[in-house]
Amino acid sequence: MPDHLVVFTPSGKRGQFPDGTTILDAARKLGADLDSVCGGRGICGRCQVEIAVGHFPKHGIESRADAASPFDRVEQRYADLRGALKSGRRLGCQAQLRGDVVVDIPAESQVHRQVVRKAADTRPIILDPVVTLHYVEVAEPDMHDPASDFRRLADALRNEWGIADARAENAVLATLQKTLRAGEWKVTVAVRQGRDIVGLWPGLVDRIYGVAVDIGSTTVAAHLADLTTGETLASAGVMNPQIRFGEDLMSRVSYAMLNPGGDREMTVAIREAVAALVAEVATVANVDPDRIVEIVAVGNPIMHHLYLGLDPVELGGAPFALTVDQALDTSARDLGVVCASGAVVQTLPLVAGHVGADAAGMILAEAPYAGEDITLLVDVGTNAEIVLGNRERLLVCSSPTGPAFEGAQLSSGQRAAPGAIERLRIDPLTLEPRYRIIGSELWSGEPGFDAAAAATGVTGICGSGIIEAVAELFLAGIVTADGVIDGGLALRSPRVVPEGRTFTYVVREGTPRITITQADIRAIQLAKAALYAGIRLLMDQYPVDRVDRIVLAGAFGSHIDVKYAMVLGLIPDCPLAHVRSAGNAAGTGARIALLNRASRAEIARIARRIVKIETALEPRFQEHFVAAMAIPHKTDAFPNLATAVTLPARAAVEPGQRRRRRG
Ligand code: FES
Repeated sequence: MPDHLVVFTPSGKRGQFPDGTTILDAARKLGADLDSVCGGRGICGRCQVEIAVGHFPKHGIESRADAASPFDRVEQRYADLRGALKSGRRLGCQAQLRGDVVVDIPAESQVHRQVVRKAADTRPIILDPVVTLHYVEVAEPDMHDPASDFRRLADALRNEWGIADARAENAVLATLQKTLRAGEWKVTVAVRQGRDIVGLWPGLVDRIYGVAVDIGSTTVAAHLADLTTGETLASAGVMNPQIRFGEDLMSRVSYAMLNPGGDREMTVAIREAVAALVAEVATVANVDPDRIVEIVAVGNPIMHHLYLGLDPVELGGAPFALTVDQALDTSARDLGVVCASGAVVQTLPLVAGHVGADAAGMILAEAPYAGEDITLLVDVGTNAEIVLGNRERLLVCSSPTGPAFEGAQLSSGQRAAPGAIERLRIDPLTLEPRYRIIGSELWSGEPGFDAAAAATGVTGICGSGIIEAVAELFLAGIVTADGVIDGGLALRSPRVVPEGRTFTYVVREGTPRITITQADIRAIQLAKAALYAGIRLLMDQYPVDRVDRIVLAGAFGSHIDVKYAMVLGLIPDCPLAHVRSAGNAAGTGARIALLNRASRAEIARIARRIVKIETALEPRFQEHFVAAMAIPHKTDAFPNLATAVTLPARAAVEPGQRRRRRG
């Protein structure tokens, strides 16, 4: 009998095979990306395919329903146990070729399926995790054959799956004998990087999980993903418990310097927090923690070092030497996480002393290195991390913006929490404000606002609120381009009130009284000038005089209205449609590394290629900083912004000098 032609869609892979070849075997030989956990035993259901029926001139095939062997006993057993197959579906490991055929591999049966991300302009993730599942039947022990249980398991992996030289840590070996016997010699093995056994369960297991962790200095977040579908099943966050040792990074390094054993205390605190978060996401998703086989963690250099138990003291001062900058694999159990016996925590590579694995995650998530566009990535935090470039080259720096963007040290500033003003508008004629607080969709003045606000009160202004407030004060003419509150307006509006030698804008009377003082505006100017100066420095070094695309990342970045960020001069001019908030890009990068093994090598390569610019050593930083104190900027033009917003004419007013009342 002549061989049969088989064409797989969507890949288009085609080849000739003898009568009776299973579709799974044909797919494997052609590399057609058909999944299998049970190795063709008809029990996992991962190899499901659809036999296309009809005339396919493109492929030169008349594909008939009888081009595959009839539905068989094994498929019936699968359907009885696991539920009927969808109409038209077959188990690829059972259906045999009987004629020329077109076979469709649905997305859920593809090993390397695409996981689509929320933002439309981001690349999908190709699902290809570093850990894979393999069901095996292991030979039983035999008095005449002295081979150990592990040797017989390794033989089964080699014979059935081509996995040579399987290895296992003691923690995994400790579970081996009981598991083999509980499964009556049928077990499912999780294999990492094609070699290391990281988990072992009796019988068939067809789901394993991973967790992406972002260790921020303020908050820690974890996302549980199904490694067989790429889906995120649960997310949770918690305040970083190290805050009790110091609000910001440097105070935590000082704590380690001044208190013997202080670094150890902080290590224990963060490990406990991560372990609790992993347990929490597993509980929320109703997942047995024993099935969590891989964790990817990112964090800034100090968080990274403390989590791994490395001394952070050198990171407290120049030249900010890292202990290690490459990606590291650490036993998850050694870090206190309850999960599969051999699970690993991989920390992504660090870029430089100030630019950590969180920046590596952000770069992986946004992939500026993959395209032509000059991309600016900014993670706005107390220390802004700034990345600029494209496929030609990437530059990075960090700039000390201070805590103002988090609302700290401002007269009415507060963290983003229910009750905080997060949106603010000022009527340019009446100078009256309207605002929205976290926890309510209503604007102040709208019916129902007071009732909605009663639960939390109106408690202060958070970071995104202060950006809008200062930008709106500027657009309404209350604050000049030099950042001075125009005291002349006190005659026109009771909102502008003198306070010492300067003026304050009162957003809300009451308890607490919510204000924006001259000192608040100065603090915001200093923070935004530090950020903008860092960006300009990278633009000088590249060199470019404009950017094509801007991505704001980080918890704060994701809440800023990008238009107001540009009005304030936090970021350079760019078409507003090309400016986007990316949310927790560092966490997204960790998730990508969790789901796709090639991305780990990619970010390792890119991290070593990035050019680090040290802002403190650059003579032009100060010059850029001074020019960037103005709103939006002393000299730089904002032509794109001007098409979207009417910017006030530039007029300089010195502090303390009163402008004449307009109009
Ligand atoms: S490969 Fe497992 S059911 Fe076909």
